Amino acid sequence: MTTSSERITWTNRWAFILVTIGSSVGLGNIWRFPYIAGTQGGSAFVVVYLLCVLLVGIPLLMAETMIGRRGRGNPVVAVLKTANESGCSRWWGALGWMGMIGALVILSYYSVVAGWIVDYFWKMLIGVSFESREAAEAGFAALQANPVELILCHSIFMALTVGVVARGVVSGIERANKIMMPALFLILLLLTLWGGVAGDMKQAAHFMFAFRPEAINREVVLSALGHAFFSLSLGMGVIIAYGSYFKQGSSIANASVWVAAAGVLVGLLAGLAIFSLTFAYGLEPASGPGLILQTLPLTFAHMPGGQIFGTLFFLLVVFAAWTSAISLLEPFTSWLNERVGLTRRMSALSVGLFSWLLGVGVCFSFNIWSDYRWFGKNLFELLDYWSTCIAMPLNGLVVAIFVGWAIKRHVAREEIALAGRMFTLWQGILRYLAPLAILLIFAHSLGLLA
Ligand code: TRP
Repeated sequence: MTTSSERITWTNRWAFILVTIGSSVGLGNIWRFPYIAGTQGGSAFVVVYLLCVLLVGIPLLMAETMIGRRGRGNPVVAVLKTANESGCSRWWGALGWMGMIGALVILSYYSVVAGWIVDYFWKMLIGVSFESREAAEAGFAALQANPVELILCHSIFMALTVGVVARGVVSGIERANKIMMPALFLILLLLTLWGGVAGDMKQAAHFMFAFRPEAINREVVLSALGHAFFSLSLGMGVIIAYGSYFKQGSSIANASVWVAAAGVLVGLLAGLAIFSLTFAYGLEPASGPGLILQTLPLTFAHMPGGQIFGTLFFLLVVFAAWTSAISLLEPFTSWLNERVGLTRRMSALSVGLFSWLLGVGVCFSFNIWSDYRWFGKNLFELLDYWSTCIAMPLNGLVVAIFVGWAIKRHVAREEIALAGRMFTLWQGILRYLAPLAILLIFAHSLGLLA
């Protein structure tokens, strides 16, 4: 087992910021954000989401990074060491377990959805074109009905993810992010510019930014809060794991603000690019999860250079999903590696294999197993619901209470290194605002708020 003094770290502060942006920016920002914004009143959702990131997201991001860096270990060990130092119970270790298991579950279906993106990337590359709405819908339905194609794409994506994590923290994870993230930003800028030229940027900007306070309601607030969690990779031990490789002496607050700002920026740019095209072709912005898989391919089929832009767009989404999946695989891998003593390669492979198997079940849940339902949900919906509506907020709540109330004030102060009033504000948010906000999401997703 590695001790704190010899634990490897990212090469510098920017490397930590980059990999954490890589974790944060994923299907959540590019696939989920535009379609939720589209169905939840556009700008109303955007404004509330920004507030949630600022008020709850950034403080929690700091808290998780802090646990990781203070504890210098995989999520379970990091939480235990931090708790121990402040004389708290060993039971806090459950926090680490809950996160690691949650990340494993998210990875299983995340990889299946990312597989759809790999599939579309390939189709765009070889020039498959969806000329009409019916063709686009039929194309997506055909993919879902075909377990072999789903499993193939899921397997390709999982292999890519395991391949990177198996190579190690710096030579695997950091290096992959250093290549993919700049490429991602470049492609995104290009697509947004193209959205401005070929699409209706004005209407898109109006849809996303014109402030319409009347559209804000409880549904909007709660889904914005839930999305802030998901898009910042909170509540799953992922940030704890990444924080454990963060060098001492760099500011956690500063890094967290960079990560949150970049994540928000990518979501907004992706939204602008996607809605510009959607409006220019007279399509429906509120079309739901199919927005980028059905609506967009339709616009690519009709615009000049569509095949190139379509291919680039799906490549962008593959990169975004890949760097996020890497972060979901890391917590359990580092645990197996450090506690059980398997090599990193074997650890990444075993965790990947387990998650892949669960993912195969998810592939079946769209076709041959679609009749198997628990609580009215198929396996895909059940795993998504359990991890994002139950495990994630619960874990976030425990993190807020742990860092806000349980650990010693001087420990938090030393690690966070914020000046007087800012520290008090941060701690106040963790003590009161964050738990309250999370309890509300929780009550809402359990259907307790009528
Ligand atoms: N944030 C990623 C996205 O937006 C997904 C993700 C990666 C995630 N790691 C996570 C979500 C940890 C929750 C917890 O797609």
